[in-house]
Amino acid sequence: MRDVTIARSPVAEAGTTSPADLEALRAGGFTDVGSSADVPMLEGRSATVDGRRVAVFRLPTGFAATDAACPHKGGPLSDGLVADGCVTCPLHNWRLDLTTGEVKGDDTVVPIHDVVVAGGRLWVRIAAGAGAAPAPAPRVTAGAIGAAIAASPTGDANPFVATRRPASSPSASAAGGPPRRPSSTAGTPTPRSASEDPSPRSSSTAAA
Ligand code: FES
Repeated sequence: MRDVTIARSPVAEAGTTSPADLEALRAGGFTDVGSSADVPMLEGRSATVDGRRVAVFRLPTGFAATDAACPHKGGPLSDGLVADGCVTCPLHNWRLDLTTGEVKGDDTVVPIHDVVVAGGRLWVRIAAGAGAAPAPAPRVTAGAIGAAIAASPTGDANPFVATRRPASSPSASAAGGPPRRPSSTAGTPTPRSASEDPSPRSSSTAAA
């Protein structure tokens, strides 16, 4: 069996790969998590390796992987913004260095898992001594919102929308705010603004 050089992430595609190389990867504890082409530049995708959810990112220098859940409160790191070798958690903006695992401004260090790109596929191995993965934050789903509204005393309170004017409040124009919508469009549904959309960005899975 041939040896395959395992580099610490981020790593770039390294030449062609033979079946013997792939077998060596499997034997070395790596899992094929999907096509490298499915991870766009400066984005992340989540996958499962040995029962553990991981997030794989494409950086200008190659690919890097860490746990899918943020060490703070389990935010979905694969949905985070990637820049300067770091991913920013979409929930509370913790910034994680994808090479060192350091959390900027904090003592926390997250595991950086091993990544190999072989034959156009991403292979990930859980870092030695990675410890337990953080628990993911619960997803805010339409069902959860509906249940919260149904359980509210008035039946219409939506705890996931930060700013919601009570039905009995004065109009914006009366309060000196922007003019109200013309009456001819009063019955027309209006698109929700992005700030009112409680659903997180969907995360596609890189796993095959
Ligand atoms: S859950 Fe990631 S910063 Fe809070």
